[in-house]
This record gives sequence, structure tokens and C-alpha cells, in this order.
Amino acid sequence: MATEPTTVTITGGGGQIGYALMFRIAAGDMLGPDRPVRLRLLEIPQGMRAAEGAALELQDCAFPLLTDVDVTDDPLTAFNGTRIAMLVGARPRTAGMERGDLLAANAGIFGPQGDAIGAVADDGVRVVVVGNPANTNALIAAASASPDIPAERFTALTRLDHNRAVGQLTEKLGVGADQIEGVAIWGNHSASQFPDVTHAVVGSGDTMVIDVLAERLGGHEAATAWLDDVFIPRVAKRGAEIIDVRGSSSVASAANAAIDHVRDEQLGTPRRTWTSAAVVSRGEYGVPEGLVCSFPVRSRGHEHGYEVVEGLDLDDRSRARIAASVDELVGERDAVRALGVL
Ligand code: NAD
Ligand code: LMR
Repeated sequence: MATEPTTVTITGGGGQIGYALMFRIAAGDMLGPDRPVRLRLLEIPQGMRAAEGAALELQDCAFPLLTDVDVTDDPLTAFNGTRIAMLVGARPRTAGMERGDLLAANAGIFGPQGDAIGAVADDGVRVVVVGNPANTNALIAAASASPDIPAERFTALTRLDHNRAVGQLTEKLGVGADQIEGVAIWGNHSASQFPDVTHAVVGSGDTMVIDVLAERLGGHEAATAWLDDVFIPRVAKRGAEIIDVRGSSSVASAANAAIDHVRDEQLGTPRRTWTSAAVVSRGEYGVPEGLVCSFPVRSRGHEHGYEVVEGLDLDDRSRARIAASVDELVGERDAVRALGVL
């Protein structure tokens, strides 16, 4: 076992996703069975008791990999020396709140957290933003941490959308999740996202998902109609569906996706093809540079982080869907700029 523990900071450690995350991380699900972990939980004063209670439970699990747990409401303490920062805590939208108000409230959280990460985190820190609006919160945190931490170390979670897309296909095609490769989520973690199966394959890799759908549904026109009318809206609006059915937003599936995101970024993508994450655009596929946009990505491990898979052919319909979601991201960025935050 490596001796030096990896410091992992979870913000919103007293909240639902934080609670679903920390036990799995401490059990080794995220960084593997050989890497000890030091957990830091950041909360606001109102959330401290819940986070402290969770820390007591962590102690009661006696996880062999967990060396220590600190609970704090001070970002400089929470991010001190951190190698992996999972920014979960955010200001939820409440009744009567406009989109601009939500962006402003979250800028007030992710700006100072980015400053603190820039000031005290490990030089090699990698950050994933889960708290919504995740892409734009990541943009704000990255801008605040600059120039101490390169912007490309900041990512936002769209792995939940990716996993949701795979889940829908497994149900429709009657195959296991490990039989589907090459799904991609493009754009924003919002209803405008584009869950794309154009390059997705089933089984050993020589059968396209679209062809299997066509075979089952009676032709390519019917397959395209199912994708447009059922699959894409179902995946893109799944967060709202969960809220409607469950009475509150997704928790365990979100925590699971955040663990998948960090594990694949740290240890490298194990699959033959790719996964999805929102990363800082370098202009790939015409997405304006600097936006935090979801792409198909691969990782060769911690030192490299996620890299966009380039060179995929996109037809006009796909390009139009991506452009619509990117327009939304541009709108969010401009709204934050208008607040003087970027
Ligand atoms: P929650 O309300 O249960 O927990 C959030 C916690 O964050 C609370 O304990 C709160 O006190 C804390 N918090 C608020 N401001 C903070 C700050 N400045 N510093 C530290 N902690 C702070 O919410 P949840 O269910 O855990 O969800 C958290 C976020 O994740 C929400 O924004 C939600 O919309 C988002 N989410 C994202 C995805 C995704 O796929 N990207 C999926 C599901 C949920
Ligand atoms: C989700 O995709 O489940 C969440 O982002 C929904 C939400 O609004 O918290």
C-alpha cells in the first residue's frame, strides 16, 4: 500500500451527494484498493453538524484506507494540499429565483473556492464540479484559481448524463452496460445537452447501435425517430424526471457518476473508446475556447487528465444540437461576465 495518503476535499460534505460519496471513496471505490485517503469536508456553518455527524460514521466504519477526516467551514483549511477537489455544495434554485440570481449566488461560492484552491491546493490538484450550474461554476472556479492552477485542471460532471444514456440503451437493446461503447454527451449539463449515439457500438465493437435499433424498430427512419423523440429528451431531462418521481434530485447516481469521473481521470479510461466529461474547450469541434463544455474524452491518468477525443465525424443534425447547447453555455458565461465575475 502506498504510504502517503491522497487528500480528497468534498464541498457540501453535510449534504446528500456528499454523504453518498464519502463512504465509497473511503472504501477505495474511487482511487483503488492501494491508495489511502485523507478526507476533508467543507461546509457552511449551517451544514457543519451534518458533516460532523457523517465524519463520526466514517470513523465507525474503520475503513483501512481512510487515514483521517477533517470537517471545516474554512476553504483555506479544506483545500490545503488537496489533490482531488470535488465541488458539490452549491446554492440551489429556490422559488422566484431568476437564472441570473442563481448564477450570481453560485459565483459567490465558486469564485472564493477557486481562489482558495489557487492559494493552497497541491500543485497537481484536479477539480470536478458537481454543484449546478456545473459547467459555469467550473468556469468561475477555474478563472479564480488562475494563474496558480491551469484552467484545464477544472472539469464539470456530465458522466451522470453519459451513464444515463448507456442505461437507456441497455434497456432498449437488452444488453449489459459493459456491451455499449462510444456514447458521447456534448454541451451543457442541462436539458440542452446532446446525448449522441452516432459512434456508439454494441458488443465486440463492429455493430453500430443505430443499426441494432433500426433492426429492432423497423428501419433507420424509425430508429432516428426513437432517438429524437424518446432517447434524447429522456436522457437530457432525466434530472427533472428523478425530481418528479423521487421528490428530490438524484443523489446516489450523481455520487456514483462523480466517482466514475474521478476514477477514470486518475487511473485512465479503461474502455476501448471514451467517456464524457465537461472540460475547458481549446476550440475543439468549433466550441469557443475557454468554455467548460462536455465532449467525448479519454484520460491516460492523473498527470494527463481528460483529453478531448478529436476527429469524430458529425452530421449537420448533430452539429446543430451541439451548437444549441454551446449557445446556452455562451449565454451563461456572458451573464457571469456581466456580473463582473470573469
Ligand atoms: P444538498 O442540498 O443535499 O447539499 C448541498 C450541501 O452544500 C449542503 O449541505 C449545503 O450546506 C452545502 N453548501 C452550500 N454552500 C456551500 C459552500 N459555499 N461551501 C460548502 N458547502 C456548501 O444538495 P445535493 O443533493 O448534495 O446536491 C448538490 C449539488 O449537486 C446541487 O447543486 C445539485 O443540483 C447538483 N447535482 C449535480 C448533478 C450533476 O450531474 N452535475 C447531479 C445531481 C445533483
Ligand atoms: C441531475 O441531473 O440529476 C441534476 O443536475 C438535477 C438537479 O437539478 O439537481
